[in-house]
Amino acid sequence: LETGCLSIIVLGASGDLAKKKTFPALFNLYGKGFLQSDEVHISGYARTKISDDELRDRIRGYLPQSKEDAEDVSKFLQLIKYVTGSYDTAEGFQALDKAITEQEISKNIREGLSRRLFYLALPPSVYPQVCKMIKSYCMNKSDLGGWTRIVVEKPFGKDLASAEELSSQIGELFDEPQIYRIDHYLGKELVQNLLVLRFANRLFLPLWNRDNIDNVQIVFREDFGTEGRGGYFDQYGIIRDIIQNHLLQVFCLVAMEKPVSLKPEHIRDEKVKVLQSVIPIKDKEVVIGQYEGYKDDPTVPDNSNTPTFATMILRIHNERWEGVPFILKAGKALNSRKAEIRVQFKDVPGDIFKCQKQGRNEFVIRLQPSEAMYMKLTVKQPGLEMSTAQSELDLSYTQRYQGVVIPEAYERLILDTIKGDQQHFVRRDEQKAAWEIFTPLLHRIDDGEFKPIPYKMGSRGPVEADELLEGAGYVQTHDYIWIPPSL
Ligand code: BG6
Repeated sequence: LETGCLSIIVLGASGDLAKKKTFPALFNLYGKGFLQSDEVHISGYARTKISDDELRDRIRGYLPQSKEDAEDVSKFLQLIKYVTGSYDTAEGFQALDKAITEQEISKNIREGLSRRLFYLALPPSVYPQVCKMIKSYCMNKSDLGGWTRIVVEKPFGKDLASAEELSSQIGELFDEPQIYRIDHYLGKELVQNLLVLRFANRLFLPLWNRDNIDNVQIVFREDFGTEGRGGYFDQYGIIRDIIQNHLLQVFCLVAMEKPVSLKPEHIRDEKVKVLQSVIPIKDKEVVIGQYEGYKDDPTVPDNSNTPTFATMILRIHNERWEGVPFILKAGKALNSRKAEIRVQFKDVPGDIFKCQKQGRNEFVIRLQPSEAMYMKLTVKQPGLEMSTAQSELDLSYTQRYQGVVIPEAYERLILDTIKGDQQHFVRRDEQKAAWEIFTPLLHRIDDGEFKPIPYKMGSRGPVEADELLEGAGYVQTHDYIWIPPSL
């Protein structure tokens, strides 16, 4: 295990992402003993002129409030120091380096490595200049050994060209093993489970292909609108906000071939391959929508053409998946909040029960809420009659893993960055391949050639999306609903 001072520097420390996600994740890691106070210190950096205590007060509200946590919270907050500075001038970053070095000395750095983790909780427009400053003034002290890593968040570009430009700018300063592109869906428990499920179970191996699977859906639904984030959201839209990153990462794990080994590079090689096998999206296989009331947000322009909903079909040109539609669907202000993967199997050939059946076999992976996997099966209806019913084999986490607290995605991913494990991070060529898939469609939406269909808040989204689903071969199961078990 590595020893020495670990400096975690959160740039954009007073912003929303840092307060809501980064610091709470660091607190959880601290609480679980992964960040020891004799080795770790945390610096917040931002332009706002505030004191250490003011920053701590801002963060406190997002940490656990119970009496039992109070001591941990206050010890954790004491690890945090604040440095003020701009994102493009030497002075600020020199001051930051001085603050980090002081901490390294006080934590007896000579005994170990100089490890510096820079978390850019910042808009991507400042990534290049911030990276330049880090490279010029804040790198780990090489005579001591150790490393400097940077963590960047989406949106990583707006299309292929801008993402590639950003990648080249950062790539001139840092090598790929130093760059961690976060997609927090890769930190979710059931997303991480996909690799195990697919490749550690004999049951799935022969079924996972075009001979048995009719269609796959990867769905994200939220039952609230863009609330307070309209200004940001309107520049991106649902495809850039959710589909190009979160859903596409899930898609890769569902569709990719078996990696040579569990090494991060082997896994990421397979993800790139499957992305490169996706054929151009057809216009008639896309439905975009915008909820009524979206434009009432004063930060959204009255003529906005930005989709808040999209359903589209991805098709993979390879031996395993030729002809199988992968339906990616994401929407805001819908009737429910959930994220799931739904693998629907083909009908039974020569089915003698056909006339009484409710639906097809489906394997559903519920990412959230109520993490679960369930396999929809046709069974005999218990009783005297020989009739059939739709039922399920159910692995619900709250029931099966009682008392187990599932870690937050960010917590897990930050721990990976400290350990130097890039498996759950997006590689540059993966990012590029992801943008290649969506850029032509996005440009046409941006140019107003493709118009979103209005839908009501709290609805299922445009009916055209359901029609697309049906046309792609999805068969709805009637009179059946999976009920998460209550304890
Ligand atoms: C973010 C998007 O990346 O993911 C948000 O920018 C979205 O629009 C959020 O609400 C959803 O994350 P989760 O973990 O709540 O599903």
